[in-house]
Amino acid sequence: MSGRAVAVVGATGAVGEELLALLTTRRFPVRELRLFASTAGGESRAGQPVLPLTPGCLRGCDLVVFAASAEVALAHAPPAAAAGALVIDCSTAFRRDRSVPLVVPEVNGADLRGHRGLVANPNCSAILLTLALAPLHRAVGVRAAVVATYQAASGAGRPGIDELRAGIAALARGEAPPPAVDLPQPLAGNLFPHIDAFGAEGYSSEEDKLQDEARRILGVPDLRVDATCVRVPVERCHSEAVAVQLAAPLAPAAARTLFAAAPGLVVDDEPSAGRYPMPSTVAGADAVAIGRIRGGRVFVPGLTFWLVGDQLRKGAALNAVQIAEAAFAAT
Ligand SMILES: NC(=O)c1ccc[n+]([C@@H]2O[C@H](COP(=O)([O-])OP(=O)(O)OC[C@H]3O[C@@H](n4cnc5c(N)ncnc54)[C@H](OP(=O)(O)O)[C@@H]3O)[C@@H](O)[C@H]2O)c1
Repeated sequence: MSGRAVAVVGATGAVGEELLALLTTRRFPVRELRLFASTAGGESRAGQPVLPLTPGCLRGCDLVVFAASAEVALAHAPPAAAAGALVIDCSTAFRRDRSVPLVVPEVNGADLRGHRGLVANPNCSAILLTLALAPLHRAVGVRAAVVATYQAASGAGRPGIDELRAGIAALARGEAPPPAVDLPQPLAGNLFPHIDAFGAEGYSSEEDKLQDEARRILGVPDLRVDATCVRVPVERCHSEAVAVQLAAPLAPAAARTLFAAAPGLVVDDEPSAGRYPMPSTVAGADAVAIGRIRGGRVFVPGLTFWLVGDQLRKGAALNAVQIAEAAFAAT
């Protein structure tokens, strides 16, 4: 792979900063790096200037990763792709567009074939869930899942981290956390089942994304996912409690073997020894950790388990870099 001209839009955000770190640690062949955010005059942590988007600023790029809002991606991603760049968007802008592949490389990397320059990076919780469901689906078939998520403050970006930190500091001083600004409720010493807007059926759009995106990524159009998405006062890593309905029986021991062999997953499952995945042990890791694997009591045949993944990494930035690596390797 020869050196690439790379642009990161949203370079000062939680995902953007993780992307910049990963380009270095994964030795992505960067010939030229352009960084963009909402305002001029800033710098990345490495001291590189961060500029606002201007007409023509993405011209000549081989790779553009958008880690900003859907509005920014809708306005700037298609022209960048039309100008010849591989464009990977981390927002919701193109995830429902059937002409844009929605890809978790370990699960449906083949969907990258024939992309037209634009690739959508899935929702963070959907990436973690589909990594775990994929080996089960390949082995016996997956029909439905009931999922409760425990999502970190950084899932709401820098503002989410800042609000959690300010609230924890206030609690430590014996004061009430400040009123919520970017989050719907104060998060320190609290949690709430409210991520994104609620729709007519009573599900939040984050909960809808788990079903809609898992269907596309796994290629199971009638998969049913009943999710309750909860924001918890953890800075980094999303956790999920998952009960799956399978199409055929699969013993927990066999599932453990499948998970252990699946790319992107590690098994951490010795509960009686205090071994199960937690945000404190998974933060900063590439792999999604899975444990508490058991037979389940509601779905027959079924399986119940617990997973934790660093959503800034595999749930966002790492998945985007892996998409770029796979797409360029195929050319
Ligand atoms: N956080 C996660 O766990 C996660 C996971 C999966 C997907 N995503 C998605 O990834 C995207 C980025 O999320 P984040 O958590 O990194 O958010 P964030 O921390 O709030 O960062 C947003 C970034 O977008 C930039 N930006 C805002 N308006 C812009 C504009 N008009 N032009 C150029 N840049 C602009 C911001 O620049 P300034 O600093 O100058 O405002 C900042 O760099 C979102 O679409 C989000 O839904 C996030």
